Amino acid sequence: MPSKIKPVSMLLQLLFLSLNLAAFTSGDDHQFFYSAFSENDLVVDGATTITSNGLLELTNGTDQQKGHAFYPTPLRFARSPNGTVQSFSTSFVFAILSVYTDLSAHGMAFVVAPSRNFSSAALPGQFLGLTDIQNNGNVSNHFFVVELDTIQNKEFNDLNANHAGANVNGLKSLESYYAGYYSDEDGKFRNLSLISREAMQVWIDYDDKVSGITVTMAPLKVARPIKPLFTTTYNLTGVVTDVAYIGFSSATGTINTRHYVLGWSFSMNGPAPAIDIARLPKLPRMGPKPRSKPTAAFVLTVGTAVFLLIRRHLKYAELREDWEVEFGPHRFSYKDLFYATEGFKDKHLLGIGGFGRVYKGILPVSKLEVAVKRVSHDSKQGMKEFIAEVVSIGHIQHRNLVRVLGYCRRRGELFLVYEYMPNGSVDKYLYGKEGKPILSWANRWHIIKGIASCLLYLHEEWEKVIIHRDIKPSNVLLDSDMNGRLGDFGLARLYDHDTDPQTTHVVGTIGYLAPELGHTSKATPLTDVFAFGMFLLEVTCGQRPINETSQDSQCMLVDWVLERWGSASLLETVDSRIEGNYNIDEACLALKLGLLCSHPFSNARPTMRQVMQYLEGDTLLPGMTPTDMRFHMMAIMQNEGFEDYITGSTASIGTTSVLSGGR
Ligand SMILES: *[C@@H]1O[C@H](CO)[C@@H](O)[C@H](O)[C@H]1NC(C)=O
Ligand SMILES: *[C@@H]1O[C@H](CO)[C@@H](O)[C@H](O)[C@H]1NC(C)=O
Ligand SMILES: *[C@@H]1O[C@H](CO)[C@@H](O)[C@H](O)[C@H]1NC(C)=O
Ligand SMILES: *[C@@H]1O[C@H](CO)[C@@H](O)[C@H](O)[C@H]1NC(C)=O
Ligand SMILES: *[C@@H]1O[C@H](CO)[C@@H](O)[C@H](O)[C@H]1NC(C)=O
Ligand SMILES: *[C@@H]1O[C@H](CO)[C@@H](O)[C@H](O)[C@H]1NC(C)=O
Ligand SMILES: *[C@@H]1O[C@H](CO)[C@@H](O)[C@H](O)[C@H]1NC(C)=O
Ligand SMILES: *[C@@H]1O[C@H](CO)[C@@H](O)[C@H](O)[C@H]1NC(C)=O
Repeated sequence: MPSKIKPVSMLLQLLFLSLNLAAFTSGDDHQFFYSAFSENDLVVDGATTITSNGLLELTNGTDQQKGHAFYPTPLRFARSPNGTVQSFSTSFVFAILSVYTDLSAHGMAFVVAPSRNFSSAALPGQFLGLTDIQNNGNVSNHFFVVELDTIQNKEFNDLNANHAGANVNGLKSLESYYAGYYSDEDGKFRNLSLISREAMQVWIDYDDKVSGITVTMAPLKVARPIKPLFTTTYNLTGVVTDVAYIGFSSATGTINTRHYVLGWSFSMNGPAPAIDIARLPKLPRMGPKPRSKPTAAFVLTVGTAVFLLIRRHLKYAELREDWEVEFGPHRFSYKDLFYATEGFKDKHLLGIGGFGRVYKGILPVSKLEVAVKRVSHDSKQGMKEFIAEVVSIGHIQHRNLVRVLGYCRRRGELFLVYEYMPNGSVDKYLYGKEGKPILSWANRWHIIKGIASCLLYLHEEWEKVIIHRDIKPSNVLLDSDMNGRLGDFGLARLYDHDTDPQTTHVVGTIGYLAPELGHTSKATPLTDVFAFGMFLLEVTCGQRPINETSQDSQCMLVDWVLERWGSASLLETVDSRIEGNYNIDEACLALKLGLLCSHPFSNARPTMRQVMQYLEGDTLLPGMTPTDMRFHMMAIMQNEGFEDYITGSTASIGTTSVLSGGR
């Protein structure tokens, strides 16, 4: 329907023409229009700002952001308390600017909601900053949304990656259609690309007489088309609250994208006032200026561009599967990681671990420092569970945990993106590598307690039991305050899923592997406790768990510490590099607890909760004598089928396979 403005409104609009805004109420019939915004017109949060030239910038190009902008005062939607929701009409001009015109980005939405305080749990990415996985579709959300969606999310039954939809309480649409319009000239449908960087106008109308929702859109230069894009019927009484806020929500994923609103109008019980197109603020320019005429040079340029695009496409090609949709917000683009590390240059190499190379990177746009681990991995098996675990670990906030920020996949390769830890890993300090200073006892004790509290959290306090599987000094990183932070999560688990009927896989690092893994190969919290025990001994003694004393003789650190304890010279095992500057009680406790945790029989080991109590001095260690503990780790490990590794290299190895039944 073409919009008509009440004469009174027209007059008032004329009166206010010199201003960007006109807002007035006649009874409950609230009305306003903006052609450009100024600072206090809207209440914004998250990444949203109002630019100096009057654009409402919902998102600013930074990855994984969300932002909202609301009309500051709530509007009365119900005719009477608990009455029916009355008719309303709104129109706005928007534009989505992505750095890539060939790649889509996340969309934006017009929102009617009971509060302008969106849950901090609302997710960016495909959730558009509106809700999260648990609350998607929850009737207590009470929101009505018209989305302009640029990504196809199968879990929301999205039509394609360029559509408009009307939704209630969540991201599944009541009705949706390809972005576009029916031309008044010939009645034919014309597609529009939401990410074309061009400004476009949208009209949304709700008619309470028939519960009709109408959504219409058109390019800026085209007047409101007579035939809407789509209509649907849904009674918004019961959905929209008596009093509700109106505004916009938007979110980014990992593609540099900005969402803008240039002008907006609204009316309760009447058509939305027209937006003065001529007065709209200018969009920032992106990409090259379009050429004026196709010339031979132009054709050549296009040819080259297509060639370069294809080449670039292959260069940055990623592997994506349907099940990854729900992990969208945690996905990084390969391109960003490539830029971040300058193409994985050696000069950014932080280290080479059992599972792959780790590079330091600086993310484009956000300039966040990250560590990117590049892992070769061909097997699809277990990948979904692995990514789910990585994403789940990414949600854990524990001060002794290195956060996993996200991942990316290519054919045969997996990339894990972690917080960057400026002070490197603990092993460098124990063995004075890379000119690192020797750690003081106070530092060591602080790190030990930090890692113990993190493991306790993962084993017992997080919603799921998480087993680290590869605790060792090179996986304990130090942040700028020298707090120990457990890193390199879950990778071991990924390798655990390779199921070759001929082999079972023992995953982890020799020396830190509990003996029972030799025959069960099943990681449990107690196998982590074993490795933690080794870590305790290693950090206290400054010696590796298996020492190659000479060419073909090796010594287990555990056996050596036990032996010294037996000959009443336990403290001789404390790292001589700290030159006696340590707390005797703490060091004794660390050594004995290390032995107890590394007990070859898993049922003799304490749980992490008990470990924490011992470390805090809340509980005394059970009375142990060296003879109670006497066991020869070497002998036990040989019994369990580890001999090949003990006599082989003692280097850290990612995956070792042990023939099943080989014990
Ligand atoms: C975008 O907004 C976020 C959140 O407010 C902010 O951290 C970031 O620095 C902004 N980025 C730019 C480029 O302004
Ligand atoms: C409106 O509905 C709510 C919940 O159904 C009820 O608690 C309240 O008393 C009602 N108010 C009026 C004025 O009817
Ligand atoms: C909005 O949320 C913040 C934090 O989530 C809270 O401190 C504040 O009180 C809330 N405001 C309202 C009006 O609910
Ligand atoms: C819906 O949200 C309400 C309020 O946040 C919550 O109490 C309820 O458990 C949620 N329902 C579901 C099915 O998640
Ligand atoms: C518009 O886009 C849709 C989805 O991409 C496509 O199926 C349809 O054929 C297009 N229509 C026109 C007229 O180009
Ligand atoms: C919408 O629902 C309300 C409350 O149930 C009802 O009063 C109203 O008549 C309904 N509107 C239509 C058009 O059916
Ligand atoms: C740890 O990192 C901080 C910040 O990068 C630095 O100031 C400090 O010197 C580092 N400490 C050591 C022992 O390297
Ligand atoms: C390990 O080897 C080094 C040098 O080979 C030696 O100094 C140290 O005492 C050995 N440690 C143990 C526990 O045998």
